[in-house]
Amino acid sequence: MDKICIKGGVPLEGVIPIGGAKNAALPLMVASLLTSETLTLMNVPVLADIATMANLLVQHGVSVIRGAEGADSGHVVELSARHITSSTAPYDLVRKMRASVLVLGPLVARCGRARVSLPGGCAIGPRPVDLHIKGLQRLGAEVELREGYIDARAPKGLRGAEIAFPAVSVGATENLLMAASLAEGETQLINAAREPEITDLAECLVAMGARIDGIGTDRLSILGVPRLHGATHSVIPDRIETGTYIMAAAATNGEVRLTGTRLDLVAAVARILEGAGVEVAAAADGLTVRRYAERLEGVDVMTEPYPGFPTDLQAQIMALMTIADGASMITETIFENRFMHVPELARMGANINVHGASALVRGVPRLMGAPVMATDLRASVSLVVAGLAAAGETVINRVYHLDRGYERLEEKLAGCNARIERLRDGA
Ligand code: UD1
Repeated sequence: MDKICIKGGVPLEGVIPIGGAKNAALPLMVASLLTSETLTLMNVPVLADIATMANLLVQHGVSVIRGAEGADSGHVVELSARHITSSTAPYDLVRKMRASVLVLGPLVARCGRARVSLPGGCAIGPRPVDLHIKGLQRLGAEVELREGYIDARAPKGLRGAEIAFPAVSVGATENLLMAASLAEGETQLINAAREPEITDLAECLVAMGARIDGIGTDRLSILGVPRLHGATHSVIPDRIETGTYIMAAAATNGEVRLTGTRLDLVAAVARILEGAGVEVAAAADGLTVRRYAERLEGVDVMTEPYPGFPTDLQAQIMALMTIADGASMITETIFENRFMHVPELARMGANINVHGASALVRGVPRLMGAPVMATDLRASVSLVVAGLAAAGETVINRVYHLDRGYERLEEKLAGCNARIERLRDGA
């Protein structure tokens, strides 16, 4: 398995281009199931998770062509679901990536039937899909759980309904937004997630002919239409990639410009970091990051649904807080068991105590490089942030997690003076 080796302690200086959001691109690709015409997506990142989703869609009969034409062809994907040849999402593909469950709603809406493997647990907790299933039942689908599969049927089509989510779920909101676009009559999604990736999906659906009101709010009204058509849509910038490089710049006391992204997507992050002594400012084509002071200050952070501080940046800000003056209380409210990076950061000299859903981080003057192991995507990148700031060498094992969510990570960091290299398997 590949490893990443970092010789830390060098301030990041330079420009880092930010790609399209993985978490927007995945549901947008799934939206292609809703129409027999071609959906062209631009600014799609080149990542393992995107390839996994493409494989799943191909298996349903979708033609997926990456890089058809043009200068930025590697980031353009054309998807055509002229005929859906299978409405089953098999275990082998779903277990690789939970976002596969997003095909459930669109397949039932388009074909009247879907069988999707239950995703099962993952490194950051049990992550149930009950909200997806209950919502689909409200739209009139009959759902059975059989042999590890969700078996949903709506032979006469879905009917609009009022769905009030008891808890905010990004995936359930996306699944039902897509399904409701082809249901008969009006659907209200109440207590819907408001993440920018959902707004991006809703805007693409509107471009495909969907009728959606309340975009960007926690109450979405969808008036179903009999069919959707093709469209061309550009994926929004990745706010988690943006936030990750903000933390990396701050951790190394560097100064970087992030291009192709937007400050408003990371407003909660910028606000928190200001208290820590980091300036994140808008620039013409993105944003800039630098520290106000020589030392960072500890700040408290609580993860929350958007527009709060994202759970997908919790591990990275914890890495930053390990070297801040004073203490920082980091509370995770979205996922259980999302502190797997803590023992690894501790191996680098961090002082962190976990009490239930909170971690108390007492800053140390500096981290020391060490061999570490990553358990999930965001935990692994938090070790990269820590390794960039640490004295000496850090070797990160299980790099495949990083490849799921960060395009050309080593290249982007090396372009800003980081001493980072990938050790290929067997090297
Ligand atoms: C998405 C993101 C993920 C991010 C998360 C929260 C994608 C592909 N992934 O994941 O990176 O960390 O949002 O911002 O966009 N829940 C239930 N029942 C359900 C669904 C969810 O109890 O049916 C719970 C989950 O276990 C979790 C919470 O709700 O505790 C939020 O999960 P959700 O917003 O659904 O996350 P995902 O869509 O899986």
